[in-house]
Amino acid sequence: MKPDTKSDGRAIGIFDSGLGGLTIFKAVRALMPRENIIYFGDSAHVPYGSKSKETVAGYSVAIAKFLESKKVKLILIACNTASALALQTVKKHVKAPVLGVIAPGAKRAAAVSKNKKIAVLGTESTVKSRAYPKHLAKIDKTIAASQYACPLFVPVIEEGLLEGPITALVIKKYLEPVKKSGADTVILGCTHYPVIKRSIARLFGPRVNLVDSAEEIAKEAHALLAARCMLKTKGKAGTEIYASDSPRRFAALAGRIIGGRFKVKEKRLGQ
Ligand code: DGL
Repeated sequence: MKPDTKSDGRAIGIFDSGLGGLTIFKAVRALMPRENIIYFGDSAHVPYGSKSKETVAGYSVAIAKFLESKKVKLILIACNTASALALQTVKKHVKAPVLGVIAPGAKRAAAVSKNKKIAVLGTESTVKSRAYPKHLAKIDKTIAASQYACPLFVPVIEEGLLEGPITALVIKKYLEPVKKSGADTVILGCTHYPVIKRSIARLFGPRVNLVDSAEEIAKEAHALLAARCMLKTKGKAGTEIYASDSPRRFAALAGRIIGGRFKVKEKRLGQ
């Protein structure tokens, strides 16, 4: 039998409102180091977390169509807010398979929690959607999920304040009540939050599991591509990064999150 030499060089498209989805980018690159990735950060419209379902769905569909015009083989919505509010809408508008981050995060949290008390940190819109409690209940009805909106985290991170007194103060303000909730597992239900994971972990200490969707969605993406014989098995990986506004600023912050230097192209999407 001949070895399977098929290698699908089309890129994986990943998008977020801004920098947060780069935490997913990192996990995908780590698991599938040969894959080409096209990343889109909607820096013109960040934050999504305080916007309506219609608005977030409109932005998400426009980005997904742009990625599809680049012939991507898979789209990862690397944004909890867009996954919670717009996953089904995006799926209806593009032909490529689409994965969101809510289900993988919920799956991971349910697997690691021992006391079945799970706290979800997210944007206002993600919390309002109740996407995580609904997913957790589907996995295990006995899980008690509590939710906490942390609206200042995204602007703090987009401002590049990844450490220091302001970040520490905001973390304390939002997360002291979470610590008192007795949850043994905390879902970082916004892809921006893992960027400040070290500071968050300092507040909770070693007994609390901090869970995010990055590794889990990377595994799902790998499984989906493998099942459809769509993995790229040869050659080096390529990276293209787009931002809908201020690409230079985006490039500087992206470099701090994923390491290295990247050229970021500006791409404005008509709304
Ligand atoms: N990183 C995004 C999320 O996971 C969006 C945050 C925002 O733009 O408010 O929800």
